[in-house]
Order: sequence, then C-alpha cells, then structure tokens
Amino acid sequence: MTAQVKPWGGRFKESTSKEVEAYTESISFDTKMYKQDIMGSKAHAKMLAKQGIITQEEANILCKGLDSVLAEIENGTLTWKQELEDVHMNIETRLTEIVGDVGKKLHTGRSRNDQCCLDLRLFTSDALREWSHLAKNLIAAFVHKAEENQGVLLPGCTHMQPAQPVSLAHHLLAYAWMFKRDIERIEQAEKRARISPLGAAALAGTTYNLNPQSVANTLEMYGVFKNSMDTVADRDYVLEAMFTGSVIMMHLSRFCEELIWWANPQFGFVQLSDAHSTGSSIMPQKKNPDVAEIMRGKTGRTYGNLMNLLTTLKGLPLTYNRDLQEDKIPFMDTDKTVQSSLSIMADMLMGIRFRVEKMEKALKAGFLNATEFADYITTKGIPFRESHHITGRAVAMAEERGVGLEDLTLNDFNMLCKDYSIEITDEVYVYLDYYTAVKRRNVSGGTGPISVKNQLDELKNWLES
Ligand code: ARG
Repeated sequence: MTAQVKPWGGRFKESTSKEVEAYTESISFDTKMYKQDIMGSKAHAKMLAKQGIITQEEANILCKGLDSVLAEIENGTLTWKQELEDVHMNIETRLTEIVGDVGKKLHTGRSRNDQCCLDLRLFTSDALREWSHLAKNLIAAFVHKAEENQGVLLPGCTHMQPAQPVSLAHHLLAYAWMFKRDIERIEQAEKRARISPLGAAALAGTTYNLNPQSVANTLEMYGVFKNSMDTVADRDYVLEAMFTGSVIMMHLSRFCEELIWWANPQFGFVQLSDAHSTGSSIMPQKKNPDVAEIMRGKTGRTYGNLMNLLTTLKGLPLTYNRDLQEDKIPFMDTDKTVQSSLSIMADMLMGIRFRVEKMEKALKAGFLNATEFADYITTKGIPFRESHHITGRAVAMAEERGVGLEDLTLNDFNMLCKDYSIEITDEVYVYLDYYTAVKRRNVSGGTGPISVKNQLDELKNWLES
C-alpha cells in the first residue's frame, strides 16, 4: 500500500516497511474490540448529527454502514488488513468503501487516541460484567455443595497441620465469601472503567461543538472524562481490572491447592469427576488433578500481566504514547484466563464427590478434640496454661497407645488431673465428641451449625437479589 492510501498518509512520500508494519500493528489482538468500536462510532455519529455537525441523513448512512461492517465481521467476510494497523482504521476504511465519501466524516472531532480508550473502557467494562456473572455462578456452586454437606466434618488446619474439627460447609463457604468480595471489587472497578473519553480527541479536546455526555448516555456509561490529557493517557482502570482478576485467580488457586492435596489418596477427601482429571501415559493407576494444577499455574501469568502493564505505564509522560497499544495484550490474556477458570471451577466443584469416611478417620488421627479437653478442664477450675500442659500429656498417652483422646478412660483423665481437686466424669466424652466441638462454635461466623445456616441464608438471599 502506498503511503497516500493510509488514513494518515498525507505527509508521507514513502511507504512503510513491511517489517515495521508487522511490528507496529495491533489488529492481531485489538479486533477483539470490534463490537465496542462499532458501538462507539455509531454513538459518535448520532451525536455529530444532534449537534448539527453532520446531517441526520449522513448519520443514518454512517450507522447503517457500520451495521454492514459489523455483519461482515461476524460472518467472517471482512478481511483485516495489517497495513491498516488497527481495528479502528480497518473498520473506518471498510465503512468508507461501503458508504462512499460520507464515511470520511465519521472521524470528525475524534482521534484514535480517545477512540481506542473508549473501546478499551467498554471492553473492560463488558469483561468485568461477565466476570461478575461467572463469579456469582461459582458462589452458587459453593453454596450448593455447602448446603449438601452441613453435617460433614473434616480437620480444619493451621500450618497445614490438623487443628480443630470444622464443618465441610463452613470450609466451602469460606471461598464463597472470598468470591463475594471479588464481585464487590469488580463492581467498583467497572464503575471507574465505564466513563466516556470521547471528546478528548488527540489530547487537548476539540474545537467542534461536541456533546460528550450524549455519547456517554447512548453507550450507557456512568459519566464523561474530566480532563482530556488524563483520559487519553490513563489506563489505571485496566490495572484495577487486572488486579481484581489476579485476586480472583489467587482465590481459585488456593482452592486448587486444597483439591490437589485432597485428591491425593493419602488424604482421599475428594474424588474428582473424570471430566476434570486426566490419566498418566505410563502409570495406569493415576488420576491426576491436572485442571486444578493448570489453574494454579495460570494464576502466575495473571500476576505477570498486571506487572507487565504497571511497568509499561511507569515511565510514560503525558499524554498518549504508542507504548499504550501494548495495554490490550495482558488484559485480554487475563480476561480469557479469569473467564475460563471461573467457569471450569464451577463445573468441577459440582462434580466433586466428598468422601465423608476419609474425613472422619482423619479427625480421629489428628487429636482434633484436644482443645475441647483443655477447655473442659479449664471450666472445672484448672488455669488454662496448666490445662494446655495436661492435655499435651493426654495426647502423648493416647498417641503411645495408638488411640484417640476419646478412647482414654476416666481413670486416665483423673490421674492426669490428680494435682487439682476436680473430678472428671462421663460428661467429658460428650465434650470430646467432634460433633459437639463443632456444635458449640455458634459464635457468629464460627463453624457451628447455626452460624453456618445463617451464612447460607445470607448468601442465598444475596444470590437471589
Ligand atoms: N492502535 C492504537 C492503540 O491501540 C490506536 C491509537 C493510535 N494512535 C496514534 N496516534 N497512533 O493504542
């Protein structure tokens, strides 16, 4: 293509080198924003007519032409041209081919600098709305599984060591609350992303009598830019989205880590569905939790994407610099990862079989009722520090015999407490019961059944609203 054919080619005598064209193009990734670009152009054309800058008839022709371009893109007949650099110039050029010279009026009062910002702001906002929807589905899956497993106990851990019994429902709902906070973050980020930059033009605003608010209204955006230089240079809304996406992936990855351990036969707490595991090419017995591993692996890439754009932005003076074209690559990658991970995790969770017998066995092996015994003798009058010590000796005794604390006799217990004037009676076994331990923790937000029921109710109300 000769220089004069490029939309910006007026002052150029020689054509761009092919190598440079390939180096500077963005159509290999920004065509993903074609819908946003066309919506934005239609809103701009309508506003130009309303302001009397073009006629209503011209605006109608432009909008109809843009719809034809949209149809061509969607039925795969539009050929993207690398020499036209990006999605914006490809669409505008094709529009002019279809509608003729009136197509050349579309870009009045607009620059690709505010146009590409508008497209990315809409794209980011649309992506965030999708994340919110997918995260909500995932929360519904956690709530469903929690509701099914309210009576099931497993060892709750600190330091990855068995600590105290908790209900499986409580454990699962911990994740539901994490993803609910993620949705709050998404909603806040979306509010800041969906602000219209149109009217900023290249950097300084424009001499045409534009009405940016009317474009924002047409595009159902929350407001318009306050400063033209800020808005064409700013990408912090993309950073916020990528941070939010990184936190979502981090939450997913922590659950993946648990599933990977739980699927190990030495834990055996879960059986993953065949659809969400794979086999080994050499070891016939293996059923690997690859999906969870890949999700954990992809999490690092989303952190990298955030660092990628932060680094691109740190040295850029105002206003638009072409470096900014690189903003879309990390965001689109994070978007794809977040969407597929949220969706796959919801399916994977629904397909999990929890193995209650294995969880119960693990409770016993871990002396998870030790705190209960210490608390019990403390309420009988032994100072807690002493109770802690005596319980430690009880655990050592049970361990030596290869039994649980609840298998020690009343004699054993009374012997251990002989320095204190207390008597341990049969009721101790009630306190040592794992289910009692959980039932007694009904403090708001605790693992007790009333607390868990309240959590379920609150989450279900929120899901329905
Ligand atoms: N493809 C460019 C981007 O994504 C569009 C803006 C280009 N503006 C310019 N003056 N070269 O950032």
